[in-house]
This record gives sequence, structure tokens and C-alpha cells, in this order.
Amino acid sequence: MVSLDVVKHANAALVKSQPLVAVFVSTSGIGTYVLQALASHANKGQGVRAYIVARRKAAADKITSECQKLCPKGQFRLVQTDDLALLRNVDRVCAEITDAETKEVAATTGGKPKIDLLVMTQGILAFDGRKETKEGIDQSVSLLFYSRMRFITQLIPLLTESPLPGHVVSVFGPQRDEKIFLDDISLRNPKNYGFGSMGSHASYLKTFYFEYLAAKYPGKLSLIHYFPGLVATDAFAGESVPMFIKLTWKLMTPLQKLFTVPKAECGERILFLASKASKRFPARDSKVSEKGTVGLEVATASDGVVGGGAYRVDWDGGIIPIKKNHEKLRADGWGEKFVAHTNKVFADVEAGKVFTE
Ligand SMILES: NC(=O)c1ccc[n+]([C@@H]2O[C@H](COP(=O)([O-])OP(=O)(O)OC[C@H]3O[C@@H](n4cnc5c(N)ncnc54)[C@H](OP(=O)(O)O)[C@@H]3O)[C@@H](O)[C@H]2O)c1
Repeated sequence: MVSLDVVKHANAALVKSQPLVAVFVSTSGIGTYVLQALASHANKGQGVRAYIVARRKAAADKITSECQKLCPKGQFRLVQTDDLALLRNVDRVCAEITDAETKEVAATTGGKPKIDLLVMTQGILAFDGRKETKEGIDQSVSLLFYSRMRFITQLIPLLTESPLPGHVVSVFGPQRDEKIFLDDISLRNPKNYGFGSMGSHASYLKTFYFEYLAAKYPGKLSLIHYFPGLVATDAFAGESVPMFIKLTWKLMTPLQKLFTVPKAECGERILFLASKASKRFPARDSKVSEKGTVGLEVATASDGVVGGGAYRVDWDGGIIPIKKNHEKLRADGWGEKFVAHTNKVFADVEAGKVFTE
């Protein structure tokens, strides 16, 4: 476990040496706790420019004004969107961020535009079966996987310009990988679809796609699939949450402090994943022999390589190991097949087609 003191020390150092550019895909819950942690530290450091991708303008305005108070010298900008389960909306948002950041840099410091940190938490707690988007993929898996991978691939030109290097944090649950239907990766058969298999497929696909990206951009990209622990957000009161879960959650409210990760701590711990001072999660093929200023070991990536660039991280900064099944899948070439599947989804959507495989 990485202590909270170490986390905060590293976060203060993160913003001391350079102003940061960050993208947050969310206006509620865990994403906003990270944004608040970043704004607080950035006020004592070199400042921050954050793009907040939001469906709800009112929620974005609220978090923006809170952050502006925490960091008056920071810039907090709304990027309005619709449903991000649709990849064409992701593309539009990424084009807007790229354009805004390019113009900002040209008008101020000069040089190349960059993004240092991309934090993605879009998702819903849903138990009501497969819902196909107009683009032919499942809505829940899209929010947890396809949509998030599309953000990365569309923002790659800016992420790979970060000297940190570019850090990507996808908040979900690496340990959700259990059952996988190799003859039905898209989970089209209703018999295969459930809350468990949906999360499991999203987790497997993400592990292998992150490994592919880490290898494709050595020295440039650090990718983390993060499990936040249990955090008391509004996710448990969402429209798609069954009534018995809502009620149980409400009844447990007085006890929540006993078994949840405090919101502020959650925000600090996720920001820490990008910390340059800790050097715990470097891009692949970085110099990994060096210990960071906070004396932590370099983490082992999901493919077993120390400092390999694609990490599965637990709420406390520890590593979530891959299961035996991964080794078999890897040996049988499924890593490449999952990547090809994902890139085919992207190619079909780009071509204006509906994905049908
Ligand atoms: N909280 C926990 O204990 C916990 C535990 C393990 C894993 N996680 C994972 O962590 C992530 C964040 O959880 P959270 O607790 O912070 O949830 P949350 O407060 O409900 O936040 C989810 C965010 O996703 C956005 N979103 C949902 N559907 C969308 C859509 N179709 N298009 C665009 N944006 C959409 C929501 O936007 P709006 O604000 O517009 O609704 C919201 O900002 C989720 O993936 C969840 O599975 C959470």
C-alpha cells in the first residue's frame, strides 16, 4: 500500500515543476474528486488547464466554479457533449479539445500542444441487458471500453507530446475479468450477456488494448486501469440501478464511512498515478532503474514487464495481478485478436458503417 502522505507529497511535486494540461471525462463522482485534488495542488504549483467533457452543463458549471476557487490561476473549460457511448461523439469532442489546445499554445507559449493527463470515468451501473448503440456496440461496454480507447487514440498526438509522459487513467475494475465468450466478443447473444460478463469483457479487452498501446508508443504513454475501491458516489442512485440496491445503499448511509474510500483520498490517489516524483508507473522502455524521490518500486505491467507501461492498479496503489486465464489467452493469440476487433469497430464507425461482428 502506498501511504496517503507519500501520495500527497508526490502530487505536490507533480505540479511544482510544470503547468499541466488535463482532460476529464465526467462531471460527477470520482472524476470530479481527481479534478478537485489537481486544482488544489496546482494552486500551489504552476497551474493547470483542464478540459471537462460534460453532458450536463449545470454540473460542469458547478465543478468549474469550485475548481476556479481552489485554483484562481487555473483554466477550467467545458467541452459540451452528448452520449459518449457513441464513438462519433468522442471524435467530435477530441477534435474540439485538440483545436482549442493547439490555438491556446500558438497564442501563448508556442511549441507543440500536449495533454499530460487523461482521466476517464464514464459509465453506468446497469443490470438491464444489452443495449445496442446506433454504431452496433453495447452501450455499457462502450462507456467502459470502446469510448475510452477511442479517447486515447484520438488524443494520441497530444498525449505523446507530454514530457511526463502522457498519463491515461481509466477508472473501472481490472479484477472484473472472469468469464469470456471468445466466439461472441461483442456479447450479441442474450444468453451470454449479464452484468458479470459485460464487466469481464470490458476488463479483458482493456488489459490487452493497453498493452498494445504501451508497446506502440514506448517512452511516451503510461496507461492505468484503476480500481477505486468502494466510493460513495451518485452511481448507486442512477436510473438504471435496481430499487433494492438503491435502498440498501441508502440504508447503509450512516455506515458508509466504515467501508468506503473517502472522496478526497480517492481523488489524491488517482492523481498520484501520474506523479513524476514517484516514477512508479513509467511509460514502456523508460529508464526504470532509477527510484523516484518518494522511494517506491517501479510497478510491474500486466504483461509481466517491470515498467512495461500498461498497469492494473488497485485503490491503494498496489498491482492487481493478471489471472492464469490471461496467459492462455496471450499464448493463443487472443491479445492480437482483441486489438484487431477493437480497431475494426473504430474503422467501421469511421467509415459510417454499423459494426456487426
Ligand atoms: N463508485 C464506486 O464505488 C466504483 C467502484 C468501482 C468502479 N467504479 C467505476 O468508476 C467509474 C466512475 O464511477 P462513479 O462512481 O464516479 O460514477 P458516477 O458518479 O455515476 O459518474 C459516472 C460519469 O459517467 C458519465 N456518463 C454516464 N453515461 C454517460 C454517457 N452515455 N455519455 C457520457 N457520459 C456518461 C456521467 O455523466 P453525467 O454526469 O452527465 O450523468 C458521470 O459523469 C465507473 O465506470 C464505475 O464503474 C466505481
